[in-house]
Amino acid sequence: LPPKHVEFSFEGPFGKFDQAQLQRGYKVYREVCSACHSMNLMYFRNLGQKGGPFYDPKYKTPNDNAIVKAIAAEYQVKDIDSETGDVIDRPGTPADHFPNPFPNEPAARASNGGALPPDLSVMAKARHEGPQYIYSILTGYKEPPKGLKVAPGMHYNPYMNGDVTAAWSGPHDKVPPGGFIAMAQPLAADQVSFDDGTKSTLEQQAKDVAAFIAWASEPKMEERKAFGMAAMAYLFIFAALLYASYRRIWRNVA
Ligand code: HEM
Repeated sequence: LPPKHVEFSFEGPFGKFDQAQLQRGYKVYREVCSACHSMNLMYFRNLGQKGGPFYDPKYKTPNDNAIVKAIAAEYQVKDIDSETGDVIDRPGTPADHFPNPFPNEPAARASNGGALPPDLSVMAKARHEGPQYIYSILTGYKEPPKGLKVAPGMHYNPYMNGDVTAAWSGPHDKVPPGGFIAMAQPLAADQVSFDDGTKSTLEQQAKDVAAFIAWASEPKMEERKAFGMAAMAYLFIFAALLYASYRRIWRNVA
């Protein structure tokens, strides 16, 4: 099925991210998705950069941001002791990237019934209508219709890409839409408690985490739009000037 229609604050030429929503979305990622999905392109300092979920202008750089430091320090990361050369665990810093939940691909597959949870860093760009798609997958799980045989470890989702014809024993002209997905429904109402008092429905969590992934996928979106607007204004004025000078130069030519 095409993704559900859900509106985000960052759509359209003037759209901006909603910082409170990005903070809630990070919490959903942190508490739920990060158990299986990596975000290899994200560094903790990104959370505190301009436009990010924990950006605060009172800090000169994201590395000074107290919240970002505290978030990073919740993790233990592997490093090499500069004196002994031993591999050690130390608390994370804003300069570290988000840790991977699994040491490598075989380990990730072994924990997920053979399926590989994809990296979510640019998932909002990797799928058509990414934020709406992520929202639809997370809120779209359904009991499989009668006549659809779901293999063990798989789940039916009408918004997943795929084709379920081979598993369908009902009428040929009524094959259900969607596909099978190895991810069980990860979210449920009240699973994540929001610090800003927002009611934690399944839809709210799905929308917030989709917004967070959209920001991670294009953290400079607001700058891009602002630059685009300025470029359009410049071109418009330039075109008007050009037209005026054309009229003036050719004014005496019959
Ligand atoms: C696949 C998002 C939590 C395991 C996916 C996909 C997305 C996604 C967008 C890709 C679907 C596609 O290929 O088009 C999320 C989000 C989560 C979350 C936003 C948190 C709210 C989890 C958790 C687990 C998990 C907790 C493990 C218990 C997987 C696996 C796949 C997958 C194994 C691959 C499915 C397949 O290829 O059939 N997830 N996920 N996910 N996820 Fe998650």
